[in-house]
Amino acid sequence: MNLWEMADLSTPWSLHVAATLGIAGHIAAGKTEIADLAAAADVDRNSLYRVLRHLVNKGVFEEPAPGRFALNDPARQLLEGPIRLGLDLNGIGGRMAHAWGTLLTAVRRGRPAYHEIFGRAFWDDLDAHPDIAASFDELMGVAGHGVPDPEVLVDPSFWASVKTVVDVGGGTGALLAEVLRAHPQARGTLVDFPRTVARSPEVFAAAGVAERATAVGQSFFDPLPAGADLYILKGVINDWPDPEAIAILKRCAEALPPAGRVSIIGGVGPDEPESPELMMMVLVGGRRRPLAEFRVMAREAGLAVRASGKQPTGRFMVELAAE
Ligand SMILES: C[S@@+](CC[C@H](N)C(=O)[O-])C[C@H]1O[C@@H](n2cnc3c(N)ncnc32)[C@H](O)[C@@H]1O
Repeated sequence: MNLWEMADLSTPWSLHVAATLGIAGHIAAGKTEIADLAAAADVDRNSLYRVLRHLVNKGVFEEPAPGRFALNDPARQLLEGPIRLGLDLNGIGGRMAHAWGTLLTAVRRGRPAYHEIFGRAFWDDLDAHPDIAASFDELMGVAGHGVPDPEVLVDPSFWASVKTVVDVGGGTGALLAEVLRAHPQARGTLVDFPRTVARSPEVFAAAGVAERATAVGQSFFDPLPAGADLYILKGVINDWPDPEAIAILKRCAEALPPAGRVSIIGGVGPDEPESPELMMMVLVGGRRRPLAEFRVMAREAGLAVRASGKQPTGRFMVELAAE
């Protein structure tokens, strides 16, 4: 094992640069010569050439003739979609890349040090930079992860009694839209930051569920819309250290009617390897938890684990109800 090779950042940063400059798009548009690519991207030709040659050596892009570049399958992933979005240094991809520079402090202190580079904690940074927040929301939403899995209950027969659903920290509404589409008897409320839910009307309209969906722009640390049969927390609890995660569960507990359920999606299933999830550590100080930890947190919030299982698409979910 060559540690020097393992520590070499040339390839990741070259990918970031190629994605940020939209090189794959320029090639797809017919600009294949290095001079044309450099002009289209407004960068130094020789430096770009070295970066692209490096990526060709790593199997991304082809160079069918000296100084002329072509797309191959790996390079096509840079055209659009989650990989392009997650690598683009001008958007959330830049935050994720540069945040690695805070790993040492995060390890020293046991909490994120994201503010060291960006001046604020992650969520406050997004709040202060609407363009970065928009690219984060996009990465989280349909553009980022494909169509979300609407099966958010371990026992699907419970859907018969679900008339109202609240998706807590539901982003721009992609999951709620799919849930409402799959369950025509249900009405739904999306809860997320005002700037994020602002994009939900178009998501609900595109899914044909606008008449059954509403959105509330608020913090999920404040009281939640009360009395829904089902509260969904997808990819939310694992964003937070234990005290905040328990606080969110408490908000769900106080809003929950006696027969209601809370569905948490995004834990570590018993048959899955526990992953260190270092990116979540540096960005937000969160982590994916195993079932045993959900049991403890649920109890602290006045809830109890009723079931756990996997969504059809394979994500681990834990279902809670009043104790
Ligand atoms: C990792 S994303 C998950 C989004 C969505 N549930 C999904 O799975 O795609 C976490 C979400 O929590 C939201 N969020 C973070 N802090 C929040 C707060 N204090 N109040 C409301 N929403 C918050 C973010 O805006 C984001 O949409």
